[in-house]
Amino acid sequence: MKNVLVIGCAGQIGSELVLELRRRYGVNNVIGTDIAPEKIKGILAEGPTEALDVRDRATLTELVKKYKIDTIYNLAALLSAVAEAKPQLAWEIGLMGHYGVLETAREQKCAVFFPSSIGSFGLTTPHKNTPQDTIQRPNTMYGVTKVSAELLGDYYNKKFGVDSRGVRFPGIISNVTLPGGGTTDYAVEIYYKAVETGKFVCPLKAGTFLDMMYMPDAIKAAIEIMEADPAKLKHHNGFNISSMSFDPEIIKNAIQKRIPEFEMVYDVEPIKQAIADSWPDRMDDSCAREEWGWKPSWDLDSMTDDMINTIRKRMNK
Ligand code: SER
Repeated sequence: MKNVLVIGCAGQIGSELVLELRRRYGVNNVIGTDIAPEKIKGILAEGPTEALDVRDRATLTELVKKYKIDTIYNLAALLSAVAEAKPQLAWEIGLMGHYGVLETAREQKCAVFFPSSIGSFGLTTPHKNTPQDTIQRPNTMYGVTKVSAELLGDYYNKKFGVDSRGVRFPGIISNVTLPGGGTTDYAVEIYYKAVETGKFVCPLKAGTFLDMMYMPDAIKAAIEIMEADPAKLKHHNGFNISSMSFDPEIIKNAIQKRIPEFEMVYDVEPIKQAIADSWPDRMDDSCAREEWGWKPSWDLDSMTDDMINTIRKRMNK
């Protein structure tokens, strides 16, 4: 990778990925683009940035030529709960947008990273130790776009030789840019509320286990998969990657160990609960480990220490 273009750079993952890519490949070699350029602020705006709607293939092609891009990270998407409220828009951005990215990559000879998700699975998927290759019949629009884009990436790889790669991200926990409208967002909000008010209303039931990951591991995965030796890859798109799995009670207990007065009550949101119930409890990520050496560095305890310390410092608490 020499010249990288990131689509959706102001979002939860993009805002941190761009900074790490710039550290590795040079500030001027990583172009941050977003549909809402006014959100590209602070240190993110210190390198090259452009306005880009992923659905606008003409502008994408222009930018790829202008900056001699060889790798595109497409992070544009509506998260799962918001995609249920706006399914048509979720399809246009999540799938049609990605089709345009793959077509541009085919014409301009770029590699492509695509972030699939635990959302690409459904009720009929085995939920414990979910295998790499298994049933994927999601019943959310978010999941339909994710599984379709995985298949499209594999198709472009085989048919046209486009170097399309990707992972299935768990819920991502971070403290720079908030996620919006996802089912796993509760595991981010809980830390902010614990520090700010000491109280949290949980939208998912106790016992709802989901795969989760701390942002530094997610960034590491997104970079390492693109740097992996192609000769060792048997899969290309949609690698299961896993680092921790917990339910609301387990994360609450981890926080209470550090903030004993922290209180949590439940007010279950049915749409989010139904989505979470259709997703795996924990994925088996042995293919990622074997094919490109995936290994997470953070667990629930180390992440909880870091989240609470970072949020406290930022809020002067
Ligand atoms: N974090 C996403 C969501 O909850 C899942 O990939 O929508």
